[in-house]
Amino acid sequence: MTKGNFPVDKLKGIETPFYYYDIELLKKTLKIVKEETKKYGFIQHYAVKANANRRILELIASEGFGADCVSGNEVKTAVNSGFPASKIVFAGVGKTDKEITLALDLNIFCFNVESLPELEVINELAAKKGKTAQVALRINPNVDAHTHEYITTGLNENKFGFSMAHLDSVLDTLKSLKNINLIGIHFHIGSQIEDAHTFEPLCARVNELQDFFEEKGVKLELINLGGGLGIDYEKPNENPIANFPEYFELFSKQLKLRSGQIAHFELGRAIVAQCGSLVTKTTYIKHGESKSFVIVDAGMTDLIRPALYQAYHKIENITSDLPVKKYDVVGPICESSDFFAKDYELNETERGDLLVLRSAGAYGEIMASQYNCRELPKGYFSDKI
Ligand SMILES: Cc1ncc(COP(=O)(O)O)c(C=O)c1O
Repeated sequence: MTKGNFPVDKLKGIETPFYYYDIELLKKTLKIVKEETKKYGFIQHYAVKANANRRILELIASEGFGADCVSGNEVKTAVNSGFPASKIVFAGVGKTDKEITLALDLNIFCFNVESLPELEVINELAAKKGKTAQVALRINPNVDAHTHEYITTGLNENKFGFSMAHLDSVLDTLKSLKNINLIGIHFHIGSQIEDAHTFEPLCARVNELQDFFEEKGVKLELINLGGGLGIDYEKPNENPIANFPEYFELFSKQLKLRSGQIAHFELGRAIVAQCGSLVTKTTYIKHGESKSFVIVDAGMTDLIRPALYQAYHKIENITSDLPVKKYDVVGPICESSDFFAKDYELNETERGDLLVLRSAGAYGEIMASQYNCRELPKGYFSDKI
């Protein structure tokens, strides 16, 4: 029996909760991203933070993408999963000496640097090794991403990147940092940006900054626009693949790239979110005074997005075709924030029924924790079960 794209009988045989990845959908998504970036000569580094499941990483690496990492362990994991170091960029406001040293030893492509003290430390550590580190300055463009405040990163009040007001003095300091090679500028304004037009002010800001760097006589070979393209959490069946053509076309039209310059991107969520679902089993149905609760065996430890960002995930009962009823869908963790949905319409649900939380491939499995001494959820793949 299958329901939608879910092979129900096979899934019934696996211990819950677990992540289930639709590999065919991931491959289709990667194909479109490849086609669209190729059209404009753009380069895509997959944002490893979205999902670092080994099989997913290996597949993305095998399609020729680079990797965007935000910790030393992500850099290591990316290399071990088949991403060439020469295609790895490394961002993050708090890179430690150990992490920088590792990245220098591996000869990664570029450090996306977020502050002056970080530039100085990279210079010092590179000098000790007799190396030159390639860097892009992450600039805070003060552009509103119009998304949840916890996933907005490009406003002056956010901790990320260099403030534009300091760029003059940064360029002055760079003259004395002999083991740094400035190759580009980097931006990332936020995540789950549903309207591609939100990126227009970013393009305008990049164009202004390009003029600034040109006036200063600084040549930039790359402009990295970060990630942030959103997906349709409400309708994953109707829109399983994000609107990549519109997204890349917008940048191709609005960015004034200089001759020889290449635009780089770091999409995470839009690549992996829709291919993943969290599969969970109903432990109990509990009828309260005014509500009915579906208590499932997955909790905020397996998928924290609803508790962390009030995020919505579509939920389906894949083992019931009974008429719908309203339920609160809650987990077993001892926290009131441990719920997935309130007053949610599901096919009438019984103990033992399997529910799927859709669009959970990004910031799902990777954010799982062992709070309450729980086991981490495993990942299973549509072509290997
Ligand atoms: C620097 C950087 N690049 C890329 C991404 C990926 O963003 P998204 O998953 O929204 O595409 C993030 C996410 O936080 C980020 O911080």
